[in-house]
Amino acid sequence: MSKMFRTLSSVGAAITLLWSLNASAGAYDGFKVMEKQQCASCHNISGEIGLKTAGLWRKGPDLYYAGNKYNEHWLATWLSKPTQIRPAGTYYLDHAQTGKKWDTIRHGSFKPHVVLSPMDAQNVAIALSELKTKNELIKAEHYDASITAGAMGDMMFNKVNGCMACHSIEKGYGGVSGPELYTAAERLKPEYMLSIIRDPQAWNHRTWMPTRKLSEEDMQKTVNYIISLDTNKVDMNSFAAQSAAKNYRIYCMQCHGISGKGSGINSRDMGVKPRNHSDTKYLKSRSDDELFKAIKEGGLSVNKSALMPPWGGTLSDVEIKDLVKHIRKLCKCKYEGGV
Ligand code: HEC
Ligand code: HEC
Ligand code: HEC
Repeated sequence: MSKMFRTLSSVGAAITLLWSLNASAGAYDGFKVMEKQQCASCHNISGEIGLKTAGLWRKGPDLYYAGNKYNEHWLATWLSKPTQIRPAGTYYLDHAQTGKKWDTIRHGSFKPHVVLSPMDAQNVAIALSELKTKNELIKAEHYDASITAGAMGDMMFNKVNGCMACHSIEKGYGGVSGPELYTAAERLKPEYMLSIIRDPQAWNHRTWMPTRKLSEEDMQKTVNYIISLDTNKVDMNSFAAQSAAKNYRIYCMQCHGISGKGSGINSRDMGVKPRNHSDTKYLKSRSDDELFKAIKEGGLSVNKSALMPPWGGTLSDVEIKDLVKHIRKLCKCKYEGGV
């Protein structure tokens, strides 16, 4: 690429702009690195929507509002150690193929991201953090860490609002056409999360993230739920009681199945089948105390199969009580006495 053309490129324009604003030395060096690495060949950094940037939305996420969206510390870390954020790439059709049962991702179709030295990454993070063309959207949001969904978070995110259709909430679990959200707490500013949930098109007019009108309260709950998914960010002690739905996923679904009906991946060859937790008739006959004991001390303790393991060493009593409540939700039933 000729020097002339590069100077005319969007990064060149951004450098000139920042230079004129007396940008810090770090930012200036950062923009120089971006010019050298041709970041603007995949990312829209200038914010121009024109011939030069038209195809970029398929190559890499827009960065011209990076300062409104990302935590600077995350940028510096990620740029020197990039991980995959969109399991199906920036534009999923570039990486999908038809399969026997469903379309699958062509895993060989991804090219590794540019890796920067820690020094360059630091400077680029400073530079990107100066790009704040969507300040008004961020200023309009007021994040409140105290409005949480508690044990209902999973339910809201998955069943009620359908967000999990496109977003993964654990590595390898959830939809793939949107960015994973289990590192979102480190990556994104909470105000950005509120804003994109409120109005995705205001951030990217071509995005396939749909607009679902959530109440103000549900938006706060959803953002706090997303933040709770990030186990690196969240201090585990303050989360001694994980949500029951999450525990059920980690510990129980392997046998009781994704649907809770007893058909988990381990169930095929088990002599005694895992209990179907949506079996209303049976579960009406079991008291909460019996369920609690079965979970805490294992199947044998209630004269059931040893294939049902004891979880008392893994989960606290509070968490086990919440799991009993969770099972009551799955069976939509209460204890009503004998069989
Ligand atoms: C060949 C194209 C290409 C080049 C060149 C490139 N990137 Fe990227 N970049 C991508 C793609 C694709 C992703 C999405 C990765 C993912 O989602 O897993 C990405 C993701 C990112 C992200 C994370 C954003 C997010 O929300 O996923 C940042 C930050 C970033 N790039 C910065 C840079 C910088 C800075 C440079 C130059 C030093 C650069 N990129 C060069 C293609 C590119
Ligand atoms: C049809 C697929 C789809 C559904 C359903 C969906 N999203 Fe998204 N979401 C996306 C895509 C695609 C993006 C990336 C936006 C972009 O950069 O264009 C995104 C971005 C986000 C982001 C920002 C992540 C980042 O790294 O930029 C958050 C937060 C988010 N979605 C939350 C939600 C919530 C909450 C719901 C449910 C109310 C939801 N999404 C439903 C596809 C979806
Ligand atoms: C290794 C497989 C396995 C795992 C993991 C597992 N279970 Fe079970 N579970 C079983 C089997 C098998 C039964 C049926 C026992 C019987 O009917 O004799 C069962 C039965 C139960 C019962 C019914 C007890 C009764 O009174 O009939 C409950 C409640 C239960 N499991 C809860 C859980 C919970 C909650 C978890 C996660 C913390 C879990 N299980 C994890 C295999 C498993």
